[in-house]
Amino acid sequence: MARESIREWLAASPVRLAPMAAYTNVPFRQVAVTCGSGYTTNEEIDADALSRDNERALLSAQTPPPESGIALGVVAMQLLGCTEETMIPAALRLVEAGAHIVDVNMGCPVQKIVKRGKGAALMRDVPATAQLLTAIRRAIPDTPLTIKIRGGWSDEHQNAVEVARMAQDVGVDAITVHPRTRAQLYAGRAPWDVIGDVVRAVDIPVTGNGDVHSLADARRMMDETGCVSVMIGRGALGRPWVFDPAYDALDDVAKFEYETDVIERHLDLMETYFSPNEAAFQAKKHLMYYSNGWPGATLIRRELFDKRWMSEVREVFAMRLRPLRPAGGVPLVITTGG
Ligand SMILES: Cc1cc2nc3c(=O)[nH]c(=O)nc-3n(C[C@H](O)[C@H](O)[C@H](O)COP(=O)(O)O)c2cc1C
Repeated sequence: MARESIREWLAASPVRLAPMAAYTNVPFRQVAVTCGSGYTTNEEIDADALSRDNERALLSAQTPPPESGIALGVVAMQLLGCTEETMIPAALRLVEAGAHIVDVNMGCPVQKIVKRGKGAALMRDVPATAQLLTAIRRAIPDTPLTIKIRGGWSDEHQNAVEVARMAQDVGVDAITVHPRTRAQLYAGRAPWDVIGDVVRAVDIPVTGNGDVHSLADARRMMDETGCVSVMIGRGALGRPWVFDPAYDALDDVAKFEYETDVIERHLDLMETYFSPNEAAFQAKKHLMYYSNGWPGATLIRRELFDKRWMSEVREVFAMRLRPLRPAGGVPLVITTGG
């Protein structure tokens, strides 16, 4: 029964934030959910690191306590790893920590990860990966188990369909396909036809991902490939309102107000959720994205660069961005930089 819920969760809000290491932490996911994203996935958690109680892995595996006022709704937690010895205890820990869904990362292309047999390397040895997924399935029989795959390892080794069929056979409940191969990393156009191939090969729900920058793109991906849901990654960095169907209809002034409110809420959440150092670090990273396309963006980024505390980051935001807030409908424009 619980495993079947995933279909409902996907249908309820089919466009959602993609996991992105170092970005999709609790505050950003909360902002995305408030803007309209479907269920979110945290950044990848290395099962080895979790087994050593590594601080960052523990932070990623946390669900916010009810008194924090943060309400993420359905939560997927993603694991990175390749051995039963670490993945099984890690999956159990994530479920205990409040994960409604456990997702296995089979797409991370980073050299130091794949050389240890993790991430996209799992697509190279299908029988071994089938064993690993079977073992995880048995360990968490009532929790939806999902995977996120690529198109394959390289042009010569494109096996998304084979991997998807194997996954369905061993009891995986849903699949996300980012159709670039590991060799493509994030460059070049994402070949959406691979998503369609996977949709036709399996009966479990398929989420498509890659080069989606708007709800219109997401609709087009669903129409062209038959996938039931879509993940947006880079297109949501600095633009979490991409999930809000009402955003596009707003006029420029209303968009400006909306964006400013979202950013302020995001800064508040980071300050509440993280240690002071981490809050400032995260706020700077996200403001770099938010400031994309703003008049004076270069100047703003330069100002942000060496700030160490949230109060200083807020000062830059207030100094540099508040004056841009349209007064009497006439936007003030900083012309330096940008
Ligand atoms: C900075 C960054 C970090 C990422 N981290 C993860 C991750 O932790 N887990 C994962 O499955 N995919 C990760 N991805 C891949 C994205 O989820 C997504 O598949 C990819 O960016 C393509 O989608 P997009 O074109 O919408 O960005 C990451 C991508 C980026 C750019």
